[in-house]
Amino acid sequence: MLPEETAARYDRIAQWWQIQHQNSQYGIAQLRHAVKFSDKKDFALDVGCGSSGRFISILSECGFRAEGLDVSEKMIDLAKQLHPNITFYQANICDWNPPKFYNLIVAWDSTFHLPLEMQEPVMKKLCDALEPEGVLLFTCGGGNRSGTISGTFQGQDFEYSTLGTNAFLEILNKHECNCLHLEYDQYPENHVYIIAQKV
Ligand SMILES: C[S@@+](CC[C@H](N)C(=O)[O-])C[C@H]1O[C@@H](n2cnc3c(N)ncnc32)[C@H](O)[C@@H]1O
Repeated sequence: MLPEETAARYDRIAQWWQIQHQNSQYGIAQLRHAVKFSDKKDFALDVGCGSSGRFISILSECGFRAEGLDVSEKMIDLAKQLHPNITFYQANICDWNPPKFYNLIVAWDSTFHLPLEMQEPVMKKLCDALEPEGVLLFTCGGGNRSGTISGTFQGQDFEYSTLGTNAFLEILNKHECNCLHLEYDQYPENHVYIIAQKV
């Protein structure tokens, strides 16, 4: 599924997402874990930030100058209303050129929507956008097979792709990032989060 189609589907549930996730603790412990590895706390980026800006709140509280990016216009509009002083980019991460380097980048349950062939170039982009010793936190489908699956969420059909964890680790290494943590955090669900750090 093209990112534009994913965006249209998230537009339809953006309001619901904001109400549902504004105070959600989902992924927050994992974000705090990633923050611990980041000595420098200048700029941080939330890729696929959604409409609640819940990760942005934590990043700001931890001392980062947080920015948010999302392909869904509705998600970004709603996030801006809650966080008027934050810089947001309404963009597809596949086409977006990072304007600066970041000490921390989080992509929680967002890059798993990319078309399969965009996984590697986007991972490279995120690794390249890190400052030295910058930290990357992202989620992906587990196992070691690459592929795409479909699923329905809140009445919308979505697609989820993964390269498999070994391939993600190879890409990270190729782009000077070392894996610090890999966990099946919702086992037996096939959901993995990875924390990596740029050398
Ligand atoms: C499952 S939601 C997660 C939102 C947020 N990370 C959270 O956990 O509350 C996925 C988000 O990723 C965004 N997204 C999906 N594909 C994207 C892309 N190619 N570029 C930027 N954002 C994308 C969607 O619009 C949506 O807001």
